[in-house]
Amino acid sequence: MSTANSVSKKVITTRVLSEMKARGEKIAMLTAYDYSTARILDAAGMDVILVGDSASNVMAGNVTTLPITLDQMIYHASSVQKAVSRSLVVVDMPFGTYQGDSQEALHSAVRIMKETGCGAVKLEGGEEIAGSIRRIISAGIPVMGHLGLTPQSINKFGTYEVRAKEEAEAKKLMSDAKKLEEAGCFAIVIEKVPAKLAGQIAKEVSIPIIGIGAGGEVDGQVLVFHDVMGINNEFSPRFLRRYADLFTIVTDAAKQYICDVKSSDFPNQNEQY
Ligand code: KIV
Repeated sequence: MSTANSVSKKVITTRVLSEMKARGEKIAMLTAYDYSTARILDAAGMDVILVGDSASNVMAGNVTTLPITLDQMIYHASSVQKAVSRSLVVVDMPFGTYQGDSQEALHSAVRIMKETGCGAVKLEGGEEIAGSIRRIISAGIPVMGHLGLTPQSINKFGTYEVRAKEEAEAKKLMSDAKKLEEAGCFAIVIEKVPAKLAGQIAKEVSIPIIGIGAGGEVDGQVLVFHDVMGINNEFSPRFLRRYADLFTIVTDAAKQYICDVKSSDFPNQNEQY
C-alpha cells in the first residue's frame, strides 16, 4: 500500500480535479460529517470531503438516507467546512429538496452555499434532473452528479444490488453520464455498477468519474468514513476495504476507562489539581 507522506498545500477546486483527470492522477474522496473528522482528513491530504446524506445512516441511525433534512445537512456541512483549508467540500442535497422543480433545486442549493461556505453540491439522478442541474450551475454553484445506485431512490429500486448489469440500464447510465456532462457537472459519482461499464464511462466523458463499488478504471474513489475506519462494523460489501478497526479500539478503550473509574485507578495523583 503506498502512503501520502507529504501533503501538497494546493487548494483543491473543481478545476484542479479536472487537471488531475487530464494527467491521470486519481482523486481520493471520503465522507465526513463533523469538524474533528474533517480536520483529520484535510490534514491527511484528502482531495474531496463529501458531506454525504449517509449522515442519515451513520450519524442519525436511520435505515435510509431519506429522512435527513436540509437544515441537518447544513449543520453537518458548516461544521466540516470550518475545519478545512485544502480539501474541496461537496455537500449532498437531501431527498425532497431538488426533485420538485429547478426553482426549488436552486433555492436549496443557494441555502447550502450561503449557510455552509462549502464548495459544491451533489445531486442524485440523470436526465430527469438535468434542468435543475443547469439552473443551479447558472447561479455559479458547482454540481457533482451521482448515478448508478442512488440510495435516495431505494424505495423505487427495492434493493441495494449492483445496478446496470443489463444492457438497457447500462445504455441509460452511459447516456445519463453524457447528459450530466453536457449540463455542466464538474464530476460524477458512480455507485455500484460493473467495473467495465464504469471504466468505459470514465473514458467517454471528459469530467472525473469517482467510483464507489465501480472498480479501478475510473478517475477516483469515494467511501463512507465510518465503513473505512471500521466504526460501522456491520457493513461489509465486497467493494469496501477497511483501513482501521475503530470499533474494537474504541470498545477496548471504553472498557478500560470504565474499569479504571470503578477501581479508583483514575484519576491518579498526576491527574488532579
Ligand atoms: O452519502 C454518501 O455518503 C454518498 C457516497 C456513498 C457516495 O453519496
